[in-house]
Amino acid sequence: MRCVCLLTFILPAMLIAQDGAAIYKERCASCHDAAEGRAPKLDALKTMTGEAIFTSLATGGMKKQAEGLSPQQLFALLGFIAPTGQTAIPGSERSCKGDAAFHPKLEGPGWNGWSTSVTNSRFQDAKAAGLAASDVPKLKLKWALNLGSVAGTRGQPVVLGGRLFISSQTGAVYALDTDTGCTHWSFRADVPLRGSMKVADANGIPVLYFADGAATIYALNAESGKVIWKVHPWNFVGSMATGTLQIHKGVIYQPISSLEEALAGDAKFECCKFRGSVIALNAATGEKLWQTFTIPEEPKPTHKNASGTQQYGPSGAGIWSTPTIDEKLGALYVATGDNYSDPPTETSDAILAMDLKTGKLLWSRQLTKGDAFNLGCSPMPTNCPEAMGPDFDFGQPPILVELRGGRRALIIGQKSGMVHAIDPDHKGAVLWQTRAGEGSALGGSQWGSASDGKNIYVAISDVGISTVADASTPMGLRVVVDPNKGGGLHALDLEAGKIVWSAKPAPCAAGRTDCSPAQSAAVTAIPGVVFSGAMDGHLRAYSTASGKVVWDVDTAQEFATVNGDAARGGAMDAGGPAVVNGMVFVNSGSSFMPGNVLLAFSVQGK
Ligand code: HEC
Repeated sequence: MRCVCLLTFILPAMLIAQDGAAIYKERCASCHDAAEGRAPKLDALKTMTGEAIFTSLATGGMKKQAEGLSPQQLFALLGFIAPTGQTAIPGSERSCKGDAAFHPKLEGPGWNGWSTSVTNSRFQDAKAAGLAASDVPKLKLKWALNLGSVAGTRGQPVVLGGRLFISSQTGAVYALDTDTGCTHWSFRADVPLRGSMKVADANGIPVLYFADGAATIYALNAESGKVIWKVHPWNFVGSMATGTLQIHKGVIYQPISSLEEALAGDAKFECCKFRGSVIALNAATGEKLWQTFTIPEEPKPTHKNASGTQQYGPSGAGIWSTPTIDEKLGALYVATGDNYSDPPTETSDAILAMDLKTGKLLWSRQLTKGDAFNLGCSPMPTNCPEAMGPDFDFGQPPILVELRGGRRALIIGQKSGMVHAIDPDHKGAVLWQTRAGEGSALGGSQWGSASDGKNIYVAISDVGISTVADASTPMGLRVVVDPNKGGGLHALDLEAGKIVWSAKPAPCAAGRTDCSPAQSAAVTAIPGVVFSGAMDGHLRAYSTASGKVVWDVDTAQEFATVNGDAARGGAMDAGGPAVVNGMVFVNSGSSFMPGNVLLAFSVQGK
């Protein structure tokens, strides 16, 4: 999951062998510490978010000043500035009139967490969806929210009890009214969120739980937005939370991923010591209950690379998606990513089963062997493991489904383009495997599939990207997307993995720049309809019977918003639509085609 790590900046505060203070003194202090002058003082820079500073240095006003700095130096500089993100975010003030109380029924209609269920089906039943298949073509825009001056959006909207919880890459978390989009409260996390949120009851209070990008975990009173507790359960440089936390019976399960895979692009980096893990916490108190690593053995020194830098392994197998809960067996399942260094392990690109209570590893099933990869492998190998794996992480969780005859399966799409079904009742024995896409480092199936109990709906990214030299960027490279490559949506039957239908990718509109037909964002299903957002900016609804497109909205345009300036949609990536009580909520914009908007659709429209 490399591009997402590199482009969406999160701040591993204590970084690296580079001296951020020295870089600041040499490159920045002459203006920013000058007694006179237009440049904001260091204290003022500190009030910005890490992402805003990074954007300024990478592509914004300070690009020239940051010229020639390596990614490591940029991160070290940011580590020295230590941004807190405390400036107010325009448009995040309370705007709802009155004091509508928030006491949701947790079992009531909602989209609570990454999925509607702990099985991660991403399926909304007819009652909670409140939207018949025949009404989908009538959906119109009801309101839009400006998510701030950010290039992209990531979050999966969470909806419960008439509230919508959404995060922005400014670091803001909003509690909105689903009907009007007015803001009940907003909160500023230390670092922008990469994953979504979930509401659970603790001591009779509805609590909103989430982790920020640097894996600090928050419990907020969901009614007021006040912090109940906040913990940082594990200190490890470059570790981050990408997968949404799961909550079950008073316990939080937070998956951990990492930035190390990207940092290893520098041959001077001692790659790699990170191991993926799940951390379990008491939801009432934040107390850490257990942490289970995806690689049992600790990394040891292995060899020196061509630059003489000591390398370590085994490492990697980060968890990029939310855990799946098996209430029958008292187990949780997670899907892992690649190894970052040699030697490759048996638990990378695998499904792991852990005991819900103790975290004990019950079994693991590897689906791609020998996948040790880091950013040192591309575009030109500088610091690549010998295995030089294909980077076929799992970016999505397995979906736990029932088959005929009381059998069950865990079904999951992979960046390799394969869809796998394994048997949770027989230690993950493979039931079937079907190819749905070509596969590549950002290809195959990325963030999430959906299942209505009959089929699994798998969207294919297979984005065509290449890097071209561009001296005007700090990294000396620019990413370009191929408008003729990637995309497609497939329905596979659950029993045998047979492809029931395939919907071809829609071609990019003529004249649209930075356009890719890739379908990387998570998919959402309701009875009769499956929704899939594409990197060309379109959200499309397909008939689950035929794969025919029944509704198509172009989000890559400007929208008037309820909280201030107009906002834009762009490429759709990461999170997917939430469908609740006749409304569809989705955000739009990613680094490929920037955007900063949250959209709410209903049959009545405005
Ligand atoms: C030649 C003088 C100069 C140098 C050197 C310089 N800056 Fe700036 N910087 C400015 C000025 C002037 C502004 C205010 C720009 C404005 O208000 O339009 C600014 C603004 C910024 C901002 C606010 C966001 C923005 O883009 O306006 C950030 C962040 C920033 N600088 C970071 C840095 C960092 C980090 C360095 C060192 C790598 C650096 N600057 C080097 C002059 C400088």
